[in-house]
Amino acid sequence: MGSEQVKTSRESRIELFKMLGIGAVASVIGIIAGLAIDWFPIQASEEAKQIDSLWDLLLGVSVPVFVLVQAIVLYCVWKFRVRPGEEDKDGPPIHGDTKIEMIWTAIPAIILLVLCVYAYLVLEDIEGAKADTMDVRVVGEQFTWTFYYPGEDGKEIASKELYLPVNRSISFDVQTKDVLHDFWVPAFRMKIDAVPGTTQHVRATPTREGTYPVVCAELCGLGHAVMRQNARVVSGAAFETWLKEQPGKTNPGATAGNQGSAGQPAGLSGKELFTSVQPTCSSCHTLADAGSNSSTGPNLDDALEGKSEEYIRQGILEPDQQIAAGFSAGIMPPNYDETLKPEEVDALVKYLAKVTK
Ligand code: CUA
Repeated sequence: MGSEQVKTSRESRIELFKMLGIGAVASVIGIIAGLAIDWFPIQASEEAKQIDSLWDLLLGVSVPVFVLVQAIVLYCVWKFRVRPGEEDKDGPPIHGDTKIEMIWTAIPAIILLVLCVYAYLVLEDIEGAKADTMDVRVVGEQFTWTFYYPGEDGKEIASKELYLPVNRSISFDVQTKDVLHDFWVPAFRMKIDAVPGTTQHVRATPTREGTYPVVCAELCGLGHAVMRQNARVVSGAAFETWLKEQPGKTNPGATAGNQGSAGQPAGLSGKELFTSVQPTCSSCHTLADAGSNSSTGPNLDDALEGKSEEYIRQGILEPDQQIAAGFSAGIMPPNYDETLKPEEVDALVKYLAKVTK
């Protein structure tokens, strides 16, 4: 009997080491696989680096915990299963083990504390005020974003594209005109809800020039999926040039010549405007000439067939004045009158009238 018990405890120690061995190997494989997977889009902000490092640490810590627990559970299920003839047997009685219990309480507590402190430090750093911050007001509505920049004389400059200077801290003041939306630039890793009646704040410092998607990350109605725009990160000089060209900026010192050049059409044809002005007409409407085939809004080949330019103009500028059968008010962004220049509206109207004759 005595020798059998010695053998059993030696055997069970071997079992324990086997289990831990399998768990350790699986953990290493899990961590390598986890770090090898390209989880996120390109890092385009200061914050993205910090968030991704935090993610890598979380992954490195949680994968072994998960894999080890699963390895032990699966191993025990297989190793200590009931064999034929053992149906009525009971396992050996188990007594508590203070030492083991202290260990399995202390280790997770320490891990949790370290992760909390690290996450807190990252959050503090990301949310902390930075020098030379530019404010951008972000306003969501069904189903578009509009970005407002501080102009002169307290006037704001509206844009459908989020132009940002590289390497400058941006403070976004996020608002909504109607329901909940969520302002998200995945490449910046920053994201915040736009909550009716409040202004939410989020910061990011773009570090890489390029074009990145701006996404609505809160289900906000029929057009939620097309509530996508672009963030263009450009050099500081290019940003200043762009800002000067925006309508709405009152610049008393500007010469008439300057004013004139700013008023020129950007040179886009009606068709180009149809597929490029954010949010694009083509993302919601079917129009054979432009090769678009979305059904979020009315099919323009049918809805505008033989219609006058005035009718088409109203459809763009006051979309809720004429709702096509089967559609409801509020689906089309109501502010193209703010975001399109008058000559762009003209070009778009002429183009649509021509191709839907
Ligand atoms: Cu706005 Cu989803």
